[in-house]
Amino acid sequence: MSETTRILILGGTGDAAALAAQVSLLSDVEVMTSLAGRTQQPSELSGSVRVGGFGGSEGLVRYLKEQRINVLIDATHPFAAQISWNAASAVVEANIPHLMLVRPAWKKVTDDRWLEVESVEAAAQAIPSNAQRIFLTIGRQQLAPFTLLTEHWFLMRSIDPPAPDIALPNGELLLDRGPFTVENEIALLKQHAIEAIVSKNSGGDATYAKIAAARELELPVVMVQRPTRPSGERVKDVASAVAWLKQRL
Ligand SMILES: NC(=O)c1ccc[n+]([C@@H]2O[C@H](COP(=O)([O-])OP(=O)(O)OC[C@H]3O[C@@H](n4cnc5c(N)ncnc54)[C@H](OP(=O)(O)O)[C@@H]3O)[C@@H](O)[C@H]2O)c1
Repeated sequence: MSETTRILILGGTGDAAALAAQVSLLSDVEVMTSLAGRTQQPSELSGSVRVGGFGGSEGLVRYLKEQRINVLIDATHPFAAQISWNAASAVVEANIPHLMLVRPAWKKVTDDRWLEVESVEAAAQAIPSNAQRIFLTIGRQQLAPFTLLTEHWFLMRSIDPPAPDIALPNGELLLDRGPFTVENEIALLKQHAIEAIVSKNSGGDATYAKIAAARELELPVVMVQRPTRPSGERVKDVASAVAWLKQRL
């Protein structure tokens, strides 16, 4: 490794931002975070930031070589599988160490009423027949399957608004960014007379409040399971990622 270690973090998550902040405090490192560019106003990040796709795995290999990246840490969202597969293959070609920071999935506990499904499309078909008013918290990019449910009303929460040219399910948009509190989530669910929730199993604390709120109100949650990720070295939290990195500096 060169004297300064150049670290690329694949970001787009709170964990990636926290990791960039901690890693940039280490000596002899340069930290770059890569964002896909989906969020209009991303949170502020330590180190430098680049935005936009690389052009598949080959594009990422080119970038790693051109930028003389020494270490790649994939801290993307558990549902951003494509970039993780691209990264896992690019690091082999670029011959650099690779770590995945994957926060643990939420686990169902007593009194949770989860219906676990494999995909967002399956979630649209799994909404309990007695639920008409649905809290849809899967982001703004996969709303299409729910437009088919014309008898339902959806409260759709996302950070940014959906693209103006896509058809939206019947209902109301709510633009907001976590973390959320259980108290506020309970109030929101009651205010809109919500009867079921659709969520991805994203894990982490920032958006868990809706799951705790659903338990409290005895509401069903249609829970979309995570896509398959590549195998490779992985840790569950930011502190473990920093420790892994320190061993390599
Ligand atoms: N999916 C979610 O539910 C979700 C939720 C919260 C945050 N995010 C964040 O939003 C971003 C996009 O998510 P996605 O589900 O659309 O990902 P994806 O399906 O895995 O990626 C699609 C394409 O977007 C580009 N891309 C994704 N992440 C990138 C990054 N960090 N830097 C540069 N290019 C990136 C890549 O384009 P090229 O092939 O051209 O390189 C990738 O092939 C991710 O960074 C993720 O951390 C996703």
